[in-house]
Amino acid sequence: MAIEVIGTGRAIPPQRITNDDLAKRIDTSDEWIRSHTGIGARHIAGDETACSDLALEAAKNALAMAAGADTLTGAEKEAALAEAALTLDLIVLATATGDYPGSPSTACIVQDKLGARNAAAMDVGAACSGFIYSLETAAGLLSINKNRKRALVIGSEILTRVADWTDRGTCVLFGDGAGAVIIEKTGAPSEGPGKRGLLRTILGADGSGAEHLIFRRGGSRSPFKIGETVVKHSCIEMNGQAVYNFAVKTVTDTIGRLLEQEGITIADVARIIPHQANARIVQAAGKRLGIPEEKFFLNIGEYANTSSASIPIAMDELNRKGGLKRSDLLLTIGFGGGLTYGGNLIVW
Ligand code: COA
Repeated sequence: MAIEVIGTGRAIPPQRITNDDLAKRIDTSDEWIRSHTGIGARHIAGDETACSDLALEAAKNALAMAAGADTLTGAEKEAALAEAALTLDLIVLATATGDYPGSPSTACIVQDKLGARNAAAMDVGAACSGFIYSLETAAGLLSINKNRKRALVIGSEILTRVADWTDRGTCVLFGDGAGAVIIEKTGAPSEGPGKRGLLRTILGADGSGAEHLIFRRGGSRSPFKIGETVVKHSCIEMNGQAVYNFAVKTVTDTIGRLLEQEGITIADVARIIPHQANARIVQAAGKRLGIPEEKFFLNIGEYANTSSASIPIAMDELNRKGGLKRSDLLLTIGFGGGLTYGGNLIVW
């Protein structure tokens, strides 16, 4: 029994803001942002768009691919999507910027709008590692119950709405977007010759670094109070240097452990999709491990850091441009708030 990826999709808001656009509003420059992060632009959701809207669009695109309905249009496509939605047993959605704090989960809103009436739905909170955590969670829930066959796994974020636009050290880093995959339990082997699908996942956390990436206000630890004049919404606070050091270490260690546990070398891996937080983090880890730069797929230049959405967005982009061939071994690697980290090994 294998857990295979049978469809990918993404949703990118149309409004594109370049570094030069930002430099007109805050004290920064294209040169600083590019040289420190590799970011050239980011896409920003309109005021009327919430996390579930992007998630729904990405989910529909993934579902259309899984259902072979990519080339259909209009009512025919809607009918194919409605039918495909009924085949979903589970929706797991990773986000740090859901529609509502706590309840309902954003996954439940997507379940309703998609018409996935047979699917259980829940959110996973693991910040930028959220997609890696969610893929493993969904695979585990499919594996443990013979009646579950198909799951939709989404990473969706509207980070620009929780960015502190007075803090140039963080606000330039983030963008909005969503990515999704459909996974299915198939009769293919998951080990030995001809093995397919999700082979192995490493998940980890170091909660002692919780303060390094935090939304401090608005939760039960520090709720907004009646009568309080709020001068700042609940926004991201980050210790950039601490997160940078954690990221380089965990990316290096986790890639090494995934290869060792699977008994392979980096030469066996066709592509690596890293969380797109900072191109320098990827370059530093790649250098330590002796991995050629071209093995990493990077699209941070266009989308900036979209947190849990960055890996599935990159996966869909690479897949749709023909960069992933059947039987290719794909490695994902991520890190983020919590602090959390993880990686998956997937035979495409
Ligand atoms: N534009 C221009 N200058 C900026 C700037 C900006 N957007 N942001 C910071 N600076 C300035 C600082 O004020 C500082 O100036 P000073 O030396 O005069 O005090 C200088 O640039 C260096 O700042 P510093 O914070 O030391 O830069 P850095 O090289 O550590 O890079 C990050 C900062 C945020 C890019 C880097 O620490 C990082 O990527 N960390 C990881 C963040 C991350 O991945 N977060 C998401 C995790 S999922």
